[in-house]
Amino acid sequence: MLLLSVLPAWGGARVSFDSGWEFKYYGKGEPASDDERVKADGCEPGHEAVKAVDGDKSTRWCAKDGKPGHNITLAPPARAKVAGVRILWENDRTKQVKIELDYGAKKKEIELTTKGAESTVDTGSKSFKTIKITVNGTGKGNWASIREVEFLNAAGKVIPQEACYPETLLKFDDKGFKKVQLPHDWAIESPFLPEEPNETGKLPWVGYGWYRRVFSLPADFDAENERYYLDFDGVMSNPQVFVNGRKAGEWAYGYSPFRVDITPYLRGGKKNVVAVLVQNRPQSTRWYPGAGIYRHVWMEKTSPAHIEQWGVHVTTPEITDERARICIQTTLCNTGKREVKLELRQQLGAAEAKPVSLTLQPGATDTVTQEITLRNPKRWSCETPHLYSLKTSLLQGGTVLDTKETSFGVRLAEWKADGFYLNGKRVQIKGVCEHHDLGPLGAAFHARAYERKIEILKGMGCNAIRMTHNPPAAEVLDLCDKHGMLVVNELFDIWKHRKYDKVNGYHIWWQDWWRRDVRNIMLRDRNHPCIIAWSGGNEVPEITHKDGVKISTELRDEIRRYDTTRPYTVGTNAANGAHNGFGDTQDAFGYNYKPSHYAGFAKKYPAKPFYGSETASCVGTRDTYVFPLRWGVDGGYKGAGAVPFQVSAYGLSAPGWGYCPDAEFAAQDATPRVAGEFVWTGFDYLGEPTPYNQDASIENNIKHLSEKERKALMREYRKMGDKAPSRSSYFGIIDLAGFPKDTYYLYMSRWAPHVAQAHLLPHWNWKGREGQVTPVMCFTSGDEAELFLNGKSQGVRRRGDGGHFSQGGMKIGKNAYRFVWEEVKYAPGELRVEVRKNGKKWARATRVTTGAPAMVVASADHVELVGDGRDLSFIELSVTDAEGHVVPTDCRAVSFSIDGPAELVGFCNGNPVDHTCMQNPKQEFFNGRLLAVVRSKRKGEGKVNVTIRPKSLPDVVVELEVKPATEEQLKR
Ligand code: GAL
Repeated sequence: MLLLSVLPAWGGARVSFDSGWEFKYYGKGEPASDDERVKADGCEPGHEAVKAVDGDKSTRWCAKDGKPGHNITLAPPARAKVAGVRILWENDRTKQVKIELDYGAKKKEIELTTKGAESTVDTGSKSFKTIKITVNGTGKGNWASIREVEFLNAAGKVIPQEACYPETLLKFDDKGFKKVQLPHDWAIESPFLPEEPNETGKLPWVGYGWYRRVFSLPADFDAENERYYLDFDGVMSNPQVFVNGRKAGEWAYGYSPFRVDITPYLRGGKKNVVAVLVQNRPQSTRWYPGAGIYRHVWMEKTSPAHIEQWGVHVTTPEITDERARICIQTTLCNTGKREVKLELRQQLGAAEAKPVSLTLQPGATDTVTQEITLRNPKRWSCETPHLYSLKTSLLQGGTVLDTKETSFGVRLAEWKADGFYLNGKRVQIKGVCEHHDLGPLGAAFHARAYERKIEILKGMGCNAIRMTHNPPAAEVLDLCDKHGMLVVNELFDIWKHRKYDKVNGYHIWWQDWWRRDVRNIMLRDRNHPCIIAWSGGNEVPEITHKDGVKISTELRDEIRRYDTTRPYTVGTNAANGAHNGFGDTQDAFGYNYKPSHYAGFAKKYPAKPFYGSETASCVGTRDTYVFPLRWGVDGGYKGAGAVPFQVSAYGLSAPGWGYCPDAEFAAQDATPRVAGEFVWTGFDYLGEPTPYNQDASIENNIKHLSEKERKALMREYRKMGDKAPSRSSYFGIIDLAGFPKDTYYLYMSRWAPHVAQAHLLPHWNWKGREGQVTPVMCFTSGDEAELFLNGKSQGVRRRGDGGHFSQGGMKIGKNAYRFVWEEVKYAPGELRVEVRKNGKKWARATRVTTGAPAMVVASADHVELVGDGRDLSFIELSVTDAEGHVVPTDCRAVSFSIDGPAELVGFCNGNPVDHTCMQNPKQEFFNGRLLAVVRSKRKGEGKVNVTIRPKSLPDVVVELEVKPATEEQLKR
């Protein structure tokens, strides 16, 4: 059953196209593989037969293995007159590839002897039923594949792809479609699957999904004088867009926005069907990418002459306290058949630019430059992120054809040899790297979820985000503008050369797509004041490759075509990348994990700005501690005392290339020229559960357990096919649910030194450890601290007090950035710390041994939601004792139900090994905490009750209210 939705009235130019969709997941197999038109005797994963006839030359059918004789059989398009066939093929080193053509009585053989060639076969006017192409050259170590088989007409022209293909693609079984609201991530709907790779989150994101939406168009639809565009903010990945059965557009990179002109395929006064095929290949990513139409979709209706998508570019070339020169470049196009006379106006509050009149010929585009002088400009800064809104209007004969609102900021951002300056003031970058997933919501973008992230990050004094390793949803940049968050916007993780084992990584698209991706990303993002640099890539193999300098230079120059106001940078991991010429391609040099190189770099390149593009990679599990305390990087997860598949939260552990936060702080203090850092990572994310990425890690982990415990664990482990159960990262300063780990307060003590704060760790519920050494630490912005256990002083610590440890090639003071009492012997009761700064009382903190669990305490960040189908309430839950102290070891079961116009859309406890589906209303607490996420229903209104039923504790009801959304809110 297809649902028909009616397009809303057009008040503004673009409207949300997120609702009324249906979706079906077809699993990992090709949905059209049962079709008779194309068959192969096997294929490499992700390179199915259908790829040879999909009209896309960058995809291919790849013969299954090293044996010769693999073949692919195709039928020509049913109604078209075929006179020839062109085969685009690829082979590797061999010169032995042979392709056989077999059409009925005739046989033809072609020897393919050169690399990357194509062959055209004259099939004559006689029609044929099938054509069989046999690939013989796949002997050991060689490979061969077919990129595309094109059918040609008598004039030698390619028979348009839609005439031969969509019927195949669209002949899918339409049973089993379900209604979905976009943004949507199909994989997060699944439980975590033991057999799926933990690097990408143990979720079924690989495979094929179909989306479709039916909508009606007014009977007076006029394809000559109206344009309809579908704007996709991001589809994971390889989307192909069909409208009424014909292919209207496609994209490759899952993180790029793209536009599809659907006008030629529309039918006035009738039902119209948009169908989107999404295909994700295995081994294409190093983290969880999400799956499906995971960002917003918009429909924009325009006149043939209009402002191009992202057509308004605002810069502020001169800024003083009295005035700012606002320079506006607007790109206009005329897609119609008649010449048009136009007028372009710009308005900024009461100020206006001089209107410009112009004539546009059919098919022409033109860029118009105008200026406005803004008096007494208010600056955009981290503390006061003031924004201006420019209104652009395009008129024809006095009638408004198109309008655009562009938000921008007036600020001076400069990278100098001694750091980053904003409005003339040096601002130390206190940043984090963030992947795009939103924990329990998967990759499905929700602006409110990202805003909560920013609020939590700002709470520790963070002022910057590096968007690793791809551009974020458009709204993320709006939020960073709004909250004064600085952004390094990163374009790619992979360029032309393959990275690690990612055989289906972006390198397979690079050649054909990189300029298009750069274009769309740059045009969309360049007006945002929050962006302070463009990062072309991250740890690309090109850094040490012979063509790396050339590729990086080309990419930088392409980026500069769109923006010359911000520097170009790359996350550089190979130390040599600073000196082999690759570093010279960067305007601001980004070091990944090299604090011990800062001093040397500063000396060698006295004029070059540089910063830590990726730092720390410190790992930890919230509220988990491993004894004995070890200061080495892997002490928190290896050897005696280690907790299987968890990591100690003392904030000292890291994988071999990483180090604790203190090492980075020490390096920055020793070389103050470094502009700052981006910690890997602010929040935990799905996938990449280092140090348990490698499945053998259990060996190190269970040595200290009893024989019985070991056996039980090994049984569990075998059930999972000897695979580590971990499915999300341990890197976050904040866990996947948004609960801070201890290191949150360590960063806060450095990044927000004016906040009088003290934090004690570990928790103090250690039944069975009485009398044993249980080291205590305090993370504080003060400079002197005295610890008391049950009223008895454990000693005073001052900044810089004795003891050192080594990490990241550096020697660091134990009490330089944290205070440590290593010899405390556990006794239940109360830990208390009294902190002083400059000799005066500054802060205090306590940690108590809690009583028995007595209740669940719930706190919602928002009790009033907008009924737009997007607004969220985050309900944070804690198991507490009768006094209200969170019981840090409680992991009890709990279930949820909801009444009213809202739904429970996600749960998360922050435990990286929990395999429960994050949408299942039956969950468990982890170390006393759990998060539930509620989303309003579209057009909903009224009271909502969320009932929480913890095992053996009283139920809790949280009351929320959904307020009706306005028409405007429903369009957005
Ligand atoms: C870096 C990489 C990141 C992430 C991190 C984990 O080398 O750029 O994407 O993998 O390591 O420590």
